[in-house]
Amino acid sequence: MFAPLSPTDCHICLASVDDFRDQVESLAGLLVPDEVRRASRYAFDKDHHAFVIGRSLVRTLLGSYLSLPPQDVPIAFNGYGKPLLDTGKQSGTPHFNVSHSADRVLVAFCTSNEIGVDIEHIRPVKNMAELAQRFFSNREASQVMQSSDQEIASTFFTVWTQKEAYIKARGRGLSLPLDEFDVPLEASDAMTWQPVQSRDAESSWFVQVIPTPESFAGAIAAPVRTLNIHQWTCLPAEPFQFVKATPGP
Ligand SMILES: CC(C)(COP(=O)(O)OP(=O)(O)OC[C@H]1O[C@@H](n2cnc3c(N)ncnc32)[C@H](O)[C@@H]1OP(=O)(O)O)[C@@H](O)C(=O)NCCC(=O)NCCS
Repeated sequence: MFAPLSPTDCHICLASVDDFRDQVESLAGLLVPDEVRRASRYAFDKDHHAFVIGRSLVRTLLGSYLSLPPQDVPIAFNGYGKPLLDTGKQSGTPHFNVSHSADRVLVAFCTSNEIGVDIEHIRPVKNMAELAQRFFSNREASQVMQSSDQEIASTFFTVWTQKEAYIKARGRGLSLPLDEFDVPLEASDAMTWQPVQSRDAESSWFVQVIPTPESFAGAIAAPVRTLNIHQWTCLPAEPFQFVKATPGP
């Protein structure tokens, strides 16, 4: 049984797709038939593997919180495609979210609060400043444009992951205009919840930068700033082994 998920906890697990290369077939046995069909439609092995690892991890941990076999965990989708746990209960239901980038899969869980996560491999992107001007708020775009050549990709993806985590927590996809909210920008904001400044949100939302391997950026978003984050690295076993990650900077 995995660690219990108390109402003030948020659990985060990070897996490397490469570590699970030889286990993908057995992990697929934890999915329901619809998910197996979906997995088989990915054109590239890496996307197929990331989906199987992410969904089997979600099913395994939700199953542990709910004392259910992974295949019996009832997963449905909201109108924007966000997967959610469908227990029929309003309160006390775990929430989760998944993100993949390069060979990493990140999953996060908490009870009673919507949650969103994003991980991105920090990589060179053509026209980064232009993209920031087009899609980020004015404040975020000027932060990107003021970055040195060495820092621009890291600044861009730090902003990007926070914005994406917020969008994913809200669960309404890109129907939320990206330039209508500001995420915090300072590197010193790492490991504390910071408010998202939004013109449209009816309630408050918060984001936190999360520790990631070098050359990745990651963030989590939730409607409360009181959640304590506990992070694990996930390794292959029968089916998963969890190693508590050391707290980041
Ligand atoms: C659907 C969306 C979540 C895809 O995000 P992405 O960055 O391509 O991919 P990620 O790996 O981070 O997330 C994918 C996971 O999010 C979850 N997801 C799907 N739709 C979602 C939604 N509406 N809300 C929250 N989570 C969603 C799923 O679990 C999915 O993984 P799965 O298919 O393996 O189960 C959406 O936000 C999107 O289309 N974004 C486009 C990217 C963009 O322009 N971002 C702007 C940032 S500034």
